[in-house]
Amino acid sequence: HRHLIDLREYSADDITLLLDTADRFRSVNERRIKKVPTLKGFTVVNMFNEPSTRTRSSFEIAQKRLSCDTLNFGGSSTSAVKGESLTDTVQTLCAYKVDMIVVRDRHAGAPHHIAKVSGAHVIDAGDGKHQHPTQALLDLLSIRKAKGSLEGLRVGIVGDIAHSRVCGSLVPGLATMGCEVTLIAPRTLLPAAPEALGAHHVTTDLDEALPELDVVYMLRIQQERLENSPFPNLREYQMLYGLDRNRERLMRPDAIVCHPGPVNRGVELDSHMLYHPERSVIIDQVYSGILVRMAAMYLLLGGSEDGISA
Ligand code: CP
Repeated sequence: HRHLIDLREYSADDITLLLDTADRFRSVNERRIKKVPTLKGFTVVNMFNEPSTRTRSSFEIAQKRLSCDTLNFGGSSTSAVKGESLTDTVQTLCAYKVDMIVVRDRHAGAPHHIAKVSGAHVIDAGDGKHQHPTQALLDLLSIRKAKGSLEGLRVGIVGDIAHSRVCGSLVPGLATMGCEVTLIAPRTLLPAAPEALGAHHVTTDLDEALPELDVVYMLRIQQERLENSPFPNLREYQMLYGLDRNRERLMRPDAIVCHPGPVNRGVELDSHMLYHPERSVIIDQVYSGILVRMAAMYLLLGGSEDGISA
């Protein structure tokens, strides 16, 4: 692949290669080598036109560990605020002969547009409500590590599915890897055609679904994308869809909890579940973010899994 924009274009073999390469980088990191000269001489632009903690910082760390040169760029500090178009901004950057552009933008489709007007490789770091492919890959890596394999796992995705770009990548990614996916949300937070995402089941009843799940993936209520309060207010949402100590009793003993972050603590997860020592893989997801982003940049820029001496 030349770009990582739409995870639906990636086969099970493609995703397995990315996850296995990420695991190779895990072995390198765990030998305390950390920094490798693998991408020395390449230049990557991080264009973040929307706020980010995890994605931006882990891309930067991944780039430092691969020894490439980086340019951090975007948002209100650029000439976009003077009216410069995305096309002209990208063409300006391409005059520097950059090799890759990592982009986060509130407009769905911005990464596709950048790929069209630039000669650079493009990674989508989250575009509007559309996709967030490296998030889905890091989720798959953490789930595979916790459960041993992905095939046949029953995964429930709970919450604000309507506004979730994570779902746009994660649902097809899980299905491609052989998981059985259930979407769980009030009707107000489901998209008009939830089956179009590629899930196997859709339900509004978390308590009924919970005992069947191996993985419970909680989503954040995206207040910034909601015109009105969710169903019908946060308190009621928490009562019906929040995962807390009481609702944990309905979970299988070996079921794990994921969340992409940032968490609305006390809404979709209480503090007990957020850092649950046996169930929560949320901190491991953050670490997986470095590994899959190293793997994605490395493979897109021409590396092979065998090229990493783990
Ligand atoms: N999960 C995620 O994309 O987090 P950030 O918005 O902090 O990057």
